[in-house]
Amino acid sequence: MKRLIVANWKMNPPNKKTAKKIFDSAQKNACGLKNIEVVVCPPFVYLGVLSLSASGGFRAKSHSAFGAQDVFWDEKKTSYTGEISATMLKNLGVKYVIIGHSERREHLGEDNLIINKKVKYALSAGLKVVFCVGEKERDDDGQYLNFIKTEMLEGLFSVPAKLANNLIVAYEPIWAIGKSGKNADSPEKVFEISIYIKRILADIFGRPRGDQIPILYGGSVDIENTEGFLSEGRISGLLIGHKSLETESFKEILKIANNIRK
Ligand code: PGA
Repeated sequence: MKRLIVANWKMNPPNKKTAKKIFDSAQKNACGLKNIEVVVCPPFVYLGVLSLSASGGFRAKSHSAFGAQDVFWDEKKTSYTGEISATMLKNLGVKYVIIGHSERREHLGEDNLIINKKVKYALSAGLKVVFCVGEKERDDDGQYLNFIKTEMLEGLFSVPAKLANNLIVAYEPIWAIGKSGKNADSPEKVFEISIYIKRILADIFGRPRGDQIPILYGGSVDIENTEGFLSEGRISGLLIGHKSLETESFKEILKIANNIRK
């Protein structure tokens, strides 16, 4: 399976012109890299314009796709001021959606119940879901593992196993997000935690289905640590914030990820 590199632009950039510049660069740099799939997740307001400007190189080749940073949990009714449905996203050519990002949990009051509704709805609508989990702090007695487990059990509660093939889990320790590379987690620890996450997924969805769900790492990924996470950390891909907006760094990260042997 191809490694997945998900670019989370968050609330950036401030204007359409810069968005187009960053996107054009990602599109150009992703082209021809056959061992990775690149998913660009811009803010909603740029999705329309970028998907129109996406050339065959981005859209037609299966190794690049658009993602959204959020989605609402229902569309039986439409009276949800300010919200965006999965159908709207799909009609723009969006394939992926990030759900449960720690910034939405912290600043927008999204709890496991809301996240669970979004995950179920997005999967049933046919979107691929990048479901984020991760602890605020890493304590010595391992309480953080229980925290991750609760996020997973509640966030994935009653998700039909047959939809699990469109599920991706992103492990993002909150303390590692948005800093410089040296504050990122270590590949060894990420490997260990990915095994733990896989075990929980196998308990929820059974084997081999649970084992096949890709696990990404996110939190201060940069040029220096990309290789470590993908080789020693043995994870399926990366969720990248600020470095996905720096065109030269992102280009290098894509190259490194594409060139690492399985
Ligand atoms: P970062 O963000 O790469 O800037 O740490 C990752 C994320 O929040 O998804």
